[in-house]
Amino acid sequence: MTSAERPFRVGLLGHGTVGSAFAALLDERADEIAAVTGLRPQLAGVLTRSRGDFGEILAGSDLVVELMGGLDPAREHVLAAMAAGKHVVTANKQLLSQHGEELWDAAREHGVQLRFEAAVAGVVPVIRVVQESLAAAHIDRVHGIVNGTTNLILTEMARTGATFAEALADAQRLGYAEADPSEDVDGRDAAAKMAILARLAFSTPVRLDQVPYEGIEHITPDDLEYAREFGLGLKLLGTAERVNGGLSVRVHPAFLYAGHPLASVAGPYNAVTVESEAITEITMSGPGAGGPQTASAVLGDVISAMIPPASTPETTAALPLVDDVQSAFYLHMEVADEPGVLAQVAQILGLQGASIKSVVQKGLGDDARLVMVIHPILESKFLAARELIGRLDFLRSAPRAIRVIEEEFL
Ligand SMILES: NC(=O)c1ccc[n+]([C@@H]2O[C@H](COP(=O)([O-])OP(=O)(O)OC[C@H]3O[C@@H](n4cnc5c(N)ncnc54)[C@H](OP(=O)(O)O)[C@@H]3O)[C@@H](O)[C@H]2O)c1
Repeated sequence: MTSAERPFRVGLLGHGTVGSAFAALLDERADEIAAVTGLRPQLAGVLTRSRGDFGEILAGSDLVVELMGGLDPAREHVLAAMAAGKHVVTANKQLLSQHGEELWDAAREHGVQLRFEAAVAGVVPVIRVVQESLAAAHIDRVHGIVNGTTNLILTEMARTGATFAEALADAQRLGYAEADPSEDVDGRDAAAKMAILARLAFSTPVRLDQVPYEGIEHITPDDLEYAREFGLGLKLLGTAERVNGGLSVRVHPAFLYAGHPLASVAGPYNAVTVESEAITEITMSGPGAGGPQTASAVLGDVISAMIPPASTPETTAALPLVDDVQSAFYLHMEVADEPGVLAQVAQILGLQGASIKSVVQKGLGDDARLVMVIHPILESKFLAARELIGRLDFLRSAPRAIRVIEEEFL
């Protein structure tokens, strides 16, 4: 340490995949950070289930990094650190998507920073861009591929024709999917990230339990074959957008036209598109997860907290949350190959006000596959029609639906 440098003590809660990578990176980059900031970062202590004492670590830290995950004791520790006047950096999307308002209020009350770039979209600096660079842009819509595991699975299903189960097993073998992948594949992980992103982009409190989500477990090779035939991409898409004076936040699989900026995002990558009249559209993409990558985003936050203060999100222009939005749909049915089938399906759709954009029928022996694309319609109306179609005798299995994003960015 040179005589002009002062130490900056970092308390580390959690030393797993990200925590251990962060500790190594902090050590590796200490000289460069000291040269830029005049402060030399050093670990003040590490807390795991088997070592460290939270009280001692807190007393000896200028800033606390929370990389334990889960709600408790992460929430209590983060609140205690802020109450003690320490800045906090966390990568914990569960915590922020369920207790964000309480934590941001505490940060405001105690005049400390709460930074969380690594909680959403991995290394992609979307939080910083939305919170700082686009603070003056009136954002209309945010679209995100915010779960790398599901994007890898869909990419592999499209590339190789594998089933969901086969592609998931491959992702697990390669270390891209956890032994228990349920929060990734059922869309809940992406919903937590979209709740945080929507909160920042629209100054509106959004909790995880207010975000409807659907996963990719039901996607079949047929759906991807259809996508290939029609030049579409199939993605697990998070959306937060202004609708009818309110805000809709949701996660579901969706077909995208090839010109959409997210259509070509492949493998375990994340990408977020922000749309606003002022900026038209910007897209950021990069690795979605991984210890060293996430640690790098965490260290970026630590360095920012060492320099000048950032604002905490306000709720001045909060919007009502909207549940029901218009979507175009792809509808996939396995039916008996007999007269009148198409007419009955079309009649049910028509009664709900759904109009058919295209139909493709393929014979499968005594049965047939019927695939339709429905023009944009209120989701509640489409789902009511699907429910009725599902009760028809000639259906061989439950009809399946995937949203279609119709805009092309050329
Ligand atoms: N992994 C990624 O690629 C990634 C990407 C983005 C964000 N994140 C987020 O980063 C955070 C950490 O994830 P991770 O993958 O590094 O988790 P991890 O490998 O499971 O590590 C968790 C660490 O926290 C410690 N810990 C857990 N509960 C504790 C408790 N009650 N008391 C004390 N220590 C406790 C564990 O201690 P022991 O060592 O004693 O078990 C372990 O050291 C999570 O919020 C996660 O969502 C992870």
